Amino acid sequence: MRALVASSAAPEHIEMRTVPDPSPAPNEALVRVHAVSINRGELHRLSQAEDGTRFGWDLAGTVERAAADGSGPAEGTRVVCFIRGGAWAEYAAVPTLRVAPLPESLSFEAAAALPVAGVTALRMLRIDSVLGKRVLVTGAAGGVGRFAVQLATQGGAHVTAVVGSERRGRGLRELGAEEVIVALDPSLESYDIILESVGGASLATALGLVRPGGLIVSFGNSSREETTFMINTFYVRHGARLQGFLLLAPNQPPDFRDDLGYLAELAANDTLQVELDLVIDWNDARSAFAALRERRVHGKAVLRIE
Ligand SMILES: NC(=O)c1ccc[n+]([C@@H]2O[C@H](COP(=O)([O-])OP(=O)(O)OC[C@H]3O[C@@H](n4cnc5c(N)ncnc54)[C@H](OP(=O)(O)O)[C@@H]3O)[C@@H](O)[C@H]2O)c1
Repeated sequence: MRALVASSAAPEHIEMRTVPDPSPAPNEALVRVHAVSINRGELHRLSQAEDGTRFGWDLAGTVERAAADGSGPAEGTRVVCFIRGGAWAEYAAVPTLRVAPLPESLSFEAAAALPVAGVTALRMLRIDSVLGKRVLVTGAAGGVGRFAVQLATQGGAHVTAVVGSERRGRGLRELGAEEVIVALDPSLESYDIILESVGGASLATALGLVRPGGLIVSFGNSSREETTFMINTFYVRHGARLQGFLLLAPNQPPDFRDDLGYLAELAANDTLQVELDLVIDWNDARSAFAALRERRVHGKAVLRIE
């Protein structure tokens, strides 16, 4: 079968190659992939990967062969899946704990945008109740950010979205953000919960903006910069905590079925807007990788696999 794999010599470090067909374990369904999405975390890993490494976490498709152990959806079911690498291919073997059936009205393209970005937003917002709280989301124009703004708003939060420029803030108020600001400023009011993914100076400023007893969830470092800060900006926020979040961590709940199914249901009934800024054929994948790297994607970039 064909797959997009890491290639250090190729533009965007990605190349279409022929790879062996998957051989599913008894607890895995064989899925014919119709759409996949790309995540910023994959861009960074691609640039450092060994030649030929298989990539891809998010996919939507049709069950070609149900899992041999009888778990999971039957052959022919439309599904959304999260796997730990290898989604950017014609077929994928997927543990049935990471497969959810798709509502009829949800397209493969919209579904493929959900797994990493959507489940990350959902699980971070479950760490603490957001009801009635002031929540700040950095990197809000991106994939995780746009889901986080919507889910936090629906959870009863007052959401402030932080973006890199006015233009990048397009559409965030419509998704529920009460405020959209360009760059963090130490003189802002404080926040109960901060979802922080830009890193560098953004995280340093966030440490001084969390209210006493509040929570900062650090889940990314899109700027790839180090964070330097005066510790007294943080300890005076008595009781505040900085907590890491990693969806791929070994101690994450392994069962993704409910979360994927919940997000798919919200998206199908338009409660969750899936902003597909870029949907292109996977033969033209490099232009999508370049757009994501250059911060030109509002929401998600999805590749169609014919
Ligand atoms: N820990 C986890 O489990 C987990 C899961 C998913 C994602 N992540 C991480 O979370 C971050 C967001 O992921 P995503 O998929 O939502 O990415 P994305 O769609 O590319 O969004 C990233 C956003 O960060 C902002 N940003 C600010 N400074 C940036 C810089 N110097 N370089 C690049 N972007 C910058 C951009 O906003 P503007 O364009 O407005 O400037 C962009 O909208 C990434 O760092 C990713 O690796 C972590």
